[in-house]
Amino acid sequence: MTGKAVAVTVDSLVKAYRLGHVEVQALRGLNLKVDAGRMVSIIGPSGSGKTTLLNILGGLDRATAGTVSVGNTQLTSLPPSELVWYRRDIVGHIFQALNLIPTLTAAENVELPMMAAKVKSSARRSRIKELLDVVGLSDRWEHKPDELSGGEQQRVAIAAALANDPPLLLADEPTGELDSVNARMVTEFLVKVNRELGKTVVMVTHDQNVARAADSIMRIEDGTIKAALTPSQIGGQETSISYLEQLRNRMSELDLQLRNLDQDFREGKISGDDYADQRLRLRQVKAGLQDELQRQGVVG
Ligand SMILES: Nc1ncnc2c1ncn2[C@@H]1O[C@H](COP(=O)(O)OP(=O)(O)OP(=O)(O)O)[C@@H](O)[C@H]1O
Ligand SMILES: [Mg+2]
Repeated sequence: MTGKAVAVTVDSLVKAYRLGHVEVQALRGLNLKVDAGRMVSIIGPSGSGKTTLLNILGGLDRATAGTVSVGNTQLTSLPPSELVWYRRDIVGHIFQALNLIPTLTAAENVELPMMAAKVKSSARRSRIKELLDVVGLSDRWEHKPDELSGGEQQRVAIAAALANDPPLLLADEPTGELDSVNARMVTEFLVKVNRELGKTVVMVTHDQNVARAADSIMRIEDGTIKAALTPSQIGGQETSISYLEQLRNRMSELDLQLRNLDQDFREGKISGDDYADQRLRLRQVKAGLQDELQRQGVVG
């Protein structure tokens, strides 16, 4: 059992897939920082690299270049033999569908990762109970996946992903196959896992209403992060503020953050390292925003 939350730092991440003579650059120097205990949504067009990023964070795929650290672990330099440990103890990973083993009950699906971690039977039983309670399914213990609704299956998947108490939870389109009511419920459980259990959560979604549940939203395009947005800047059904306006707002917000940061440093409130680190991050986000504004035809 590994405890609470970890920060995720992705630096200049590159992933190239080679198919015969053709090379696809799925990630092109992507930078991302998620503070410990935060929840971040990743949005972006199809083929922009969202799943590739998540699969690398999850230890399912290896980077071509760049570094990823998760807490104290330098994921990109872990030998393959240690990826098993990483996948078992550090991350919980949820996908759009087919998260559960169809022949096993809800309880057995939650139990499986703990068997891999050699947790004792009595501890497993109490953990299953605890987790099925968290996702509101304590009365579905004996149900097999096809006896559960899609939303319930995803909630069992969340419970199973949390079985070994990983500090990082990854979710790739976890609501992709759900109607809006179930999507909202699954999203609420992910938020609960973030807020109440203190896990760091990175979630990919194409649904803006799901995306805004996070603390911040990163827009990825062509394998790099192009914009960092706050939930209020994401167009839900009810907001009518234009995309351009969102970009401009984000830009003035960033300028303000930079000024505040400079001031904090001058007043000795943060260390030189933190200052350099945060300033670099804000500058990177700003550069992405500037690119996007230019793409939108705004000169300056
Ligand atoms: N195993 C692979 N081999 C070759 N190319 C791949 C492989 N996996 C992904 N790609 C390519 O990498 C790019 C990024 O794919 P990725 O699956 O990360 O996109 P995505 O943002 O998750 O898209 P979607 O929203 O459709 O799920 C795409 O151009 C895709 O064709
Ligand atoms: Mg994908």
